[in-house]
Amino acid sequence: MSNLHIVKIEKIAVECHHTKTFRFHAPFEAEPGQFIMVWVPRHDEVPMALSYIDGLKGFTSHAQGETTNALAGFEVGDRLGIRGPLGNSFDIRGKRILFVAGGTGMASVAAAMEAAAKSGRKVVTALGAKTKDEIIFVKRAEKVGEVHLATDDGSEGYDGFASALAERLLESYKFDQIITCGPEAMMKKVVGAATKKRIPVQASVERYMKCGIGICDACAFGDRLVCVDGPVFDGEYLAVCEDFGRYRRDESGRRVPIK
Ligand SMILES: Cc1cc2nc3c(=O)[nH]c(=O)nc-3n(C[C@H](O)[C@H](O)[C@H](O)COP(=O)(O)OP(=O)(O)OC[C@H]3O[C@@H](n4cnc5c(N)ncnc54)[C@H](O)[C@@H]3O)c2cc1C
Ligand code: FES
Repeated sequence: MSNLHIVKIEKIAVECHHTKTFRFHAPFEAEPGQFIMVWVPRHDEVPMALSYIDGLKGFTSHAQGETTNALAGFEVGDRLGIRGPLGNSFDIRGKRILFVAGGTGMASVAAAMEAAAKSGRKVVTALGAKTKDEIIFVKRAEKVGEVHLATDDGSEGYDGFASALAERLLESYKFDQIITCGPEAMMKKVVGAATKKRIPVQASVERYMKCGIGICDACAFGDRLVCVDGPVFDGEYLAVCEDFGRYRRDESGRRVPIK
């Protein structure tokens, strides 16, 4: 479904100095891992994961460029255009699930983590960010399971990347499934570690998007489109997709290396 809905911002939460969550009433149901296209009036339309799918829906935006910086100035009562929900969702399986999130990647896995706990599964989260002030949704994660933190600068928890923390957890515990979202280099390591241990893994991938509905090819990823075949891909496909962790498409569709 991709009708444009005009929604009023009902609530805004400041998650950290660069990231805010915007909550709104949406006339649709959504699954964990799905995303929406957010039309920011007078600016552009950008893809955002649904960080809340029950009751008031929400997305969590890291202000990092023209449109997301403009969005950061929006207030309660302002209106946005929303298309969605779009894409596929996480397919949660097994009894013990490890969620590995880096930075704003937590926005994409938060609803999945809550859905897993609601259905009686054991939830363990490895949550990373550059520094302790940038770790988001810690309380949400603590409410539904066991939480392990990592920071690149060592200011909180494990001193290093969430992927390295996850590898340590895999040494000590058994998991039936791993779900991950964050910087692609981090996800590549998580997928590699999971594959080595033969644990089913799913990762939510980001690519530049224009239409969000499978028409323009902007979000090409291997022989798939992230907007309709993803954003969630399983370990089997990621193991053979030569773009994963290596190439992305820029705004003009050129295939460029991921730095
Ligand atoms: C499925 C999906 C889910 C996402 N979920 C979130 C989320 O929950 N929270 C969040 O903060 N960000 C999310 N993003 C990334 C977000 O869409 C970009 O940060 C945003 O589009 C940047 O726009 P800008 O104009 O502010 O920045 P720009 O200055 O234009 O770009 C900054 C960075 O964002 C990338 N980007 C720019 N436009 C797009 C676009 N249309 N599609 C994809 N990437 C783009 C650029 O390649 C660049 O790396 C998601 C992206 C995808 C594909
Ligand atoms: S964004 Fe147009 S095909 Fe995916």
